[in-house]
Amino acid sequence: MALLELKSIKKDYIQGQSRVPALRGLDLHIEAGEFISIAGPSGSGKTTLLNLIGCLDTPTEGTIILDGRDLSHCSKDELAGIRREKIGFVFQSYNLIPVLTAYENVEFTLALLRSSRELTPEQSRDKVMQILADVGLKGLEKRRPGDLSGGQQQRVAIARALVKEPLLLLADEPTANLDSDTGQEILDLMLQMNREKGTTFIFSTHDAMVMDYARRLILVRDGQIVEDQRRSEQ
Ligand SMILES: Nc1ncnc2c1ncn2[C@@H]1O[C@H](COP(=O)(O)OP(=O)(O)O)[C@@H](O)[C@H]1O
Ligand SMILES: [Mg+2]
Repeated sequence: MALLELKSIKKDYIQGQSRVPALRGLDLHIEAGEFISIAGPSGSGKTTLLNLIGCLDTPTEGTIILDGRDLSHCSKDELAGIRREKIGFVFQSYNLIPVLTAYENVEFTLALLRSSRELTPEQSRDKVMQILADVGLKGLEKRRPGDLSGGQQQRVAIARALVKEPLLLLADEPTANLDSDTGQEILDLMLQMNREKGTTFIFSTHDAMVMDYARRLILVRDGQIVEDQRRSEQ
């Protein structure tokens, strides 16, 4: 069974009197453990696609099946639950809570999870410390986002997404605000987490260097998939 299946997905936005077709009939199968780049120019539909997969929005037409569940049969609350428990989201602008430390940003997300109710305070603490160490932030746990570099903030955002042990980690242009060396470090980290933890990653980009990291490259243009290449392990 595919982890994620999209069938004939269309998404229109309503803007005043007009309809903006953002996705125009998209089919996609994704297996657990893939490391995928959704690439395409600005306005091609990348964010729209990630938002649909991440249960942040619903399609105008078509079916999305995530881990065997047809999302079109889910209520708003059920979708919010899937998003909270099962989807890790990393944004271009990090979206950390500025008044919380790196540790607290990750702990806050962990505390919201149903699975965290079974953890003792010590187990929660160990889990947060371990994930921060995994993403290379050992020693920086007490820093607030404002006292971290852009790359370090993005690492906190990745830790916060990974602490869910998500079915899918979605990253919308995660390197767009970083210089190219730091962007490369973030991609290396995501690839390492994919290999070590088996986390499925889907990230979007319009940067050729970033596309190159993918083991599967899906090119979108004007709301349609124009190419879907699988590449061998580099
Ligand atoms: N909230 C919205 N309302 C109206 N149009 C939108 C909205 N969000 C995106 N669009 C339009 O949908 C298309 C795809 O946008 P988007 O998914 O953001 O592309 P990308 O992330 O590849 O830049 C664009 O034409 C964009 O202008
Ligand atoms: Mg976008």
